[in-house]
Amino acid sequence: MASVAAPQPLERGDGSLEAFYAVTAETREAADGGPSILHAIGNTPLVELRRIVPKNSARVVVKLESANPTGSMKDRLARQVIQCAVDAGELKPGGTVVEYTAGAMGISLAFVASAQGYRTHIVFSDAFSDEKRLAMLAYGAEISDVPSVNKRITTELIRAMIAKAAEISQRSGHWWADQLNNENGAEGYAGLGEEIWTQTNGEVDALVHSVGTAHSLLGTARALRRHRADLPVFAVEPFESPVLSGWPPGSHKIEGVGVGFIPPLWNRSEVDKILSVSTNDAKQMARDLAREEAIFAGTSTGANVVAALRVAAWLGPGKTVATIVVDSGLRYVSTDVFRPPG
Ligand SMILES: Cc1ncc(COP(=O)(O)O)c(C=O)c1O
Repeated sequence: MASVAAPQPLERGDGSLEAFYAVTAETREAADGGPSILHAIGNTPLVELRRIVPKNSARVVVKLESANPTGSMKDRLARQVIQCAVDAGELKPGGTVVEYTAGAMGISLAFVASAQGYRTHIVFSDAFSDEKRLAMLAYGAEISDVPSVNKRITTELIRAMIAKAAEISQRSGHWWADQLNNENGAEGYAGLGEEIWTQTNGEVDALVHSVGTAHSLLGTARALRRHRADLPVFAVEPFESPVLSGWPPGSHKIEGVGVGFIPPLWNRSEVDKILSVSTNDAKQMARDLAREEAIFAGTSTGANVVAALRVAAWLGPGKTVATIVVDSGLRYVSTDVFRPPG
């Protein structure tokens, strides 16, 4: 255990943090096996929607991933890919984690890196919310920006961000998380699927969830299908950019999903049906969830719930549809999703 310098007597009234740090030569090491903040990832609540599900529909349960430490499911993915990189010797002590991101993954990587003593260099854009930028900075990330055209999310923007991250990752001591191509990603969500299975007592009849990299949908689905091999799985994408359905990409405002091309680790054979939801419907549902269900979540969650309601109507009473509250609405309070017009 590291020794701690004996505190020098402070002048009366000088209880400032600056004075405290000035006399503290070393900080205390945590006891071996003592829980770190990373233990707070996962084991999130599952709740049933109580007011917006129409009569004669299946019940809809949502996994509150906003209860993770940064307020997003991506904490699970960040912990997983960083651990795999450390185990493989790709990320060394004092190293820098690089990623391009719509924000969620950047915040989660910066969070895990902060907990484990790594640096983070994030490629970001003005197309995504300011709250996400400020959260990444709060966890100590360095940010490089790729400007968007009119704050729209387009294929060109995502490709330019990828190119920038690839370039930065060439620097010495840098490791690129590369979530789109990271083969370890889906397994990071095995716990999410297991938890849904346990929390529903095995009573789940469909999984509905939106797709960015596809890790969370496929990882959750695989875990659930270890228990129920024929579980119907529905993918959700933006109506304006229905690439998974075989149509051309377009610009939209559902942050984190609909990257404008088929994500490399997407596997169509693991998905029963692809549903599309418009940006406007996703935003409106995010507002409705806060007012009607007291669930404060982002736009991709809005899309998830719009699609889950459709599936619940098809399945009818006696069945259970599961979907995911991806992240907290606090990340979008400055955007037009929650900011009153005018
Ligand atoms: C807000 C939000 N929703 C949904 C997703 C989609 O998740 P996945 O990349 O696992 O497909 C992301 C991914 O970045 C996201 O940030």
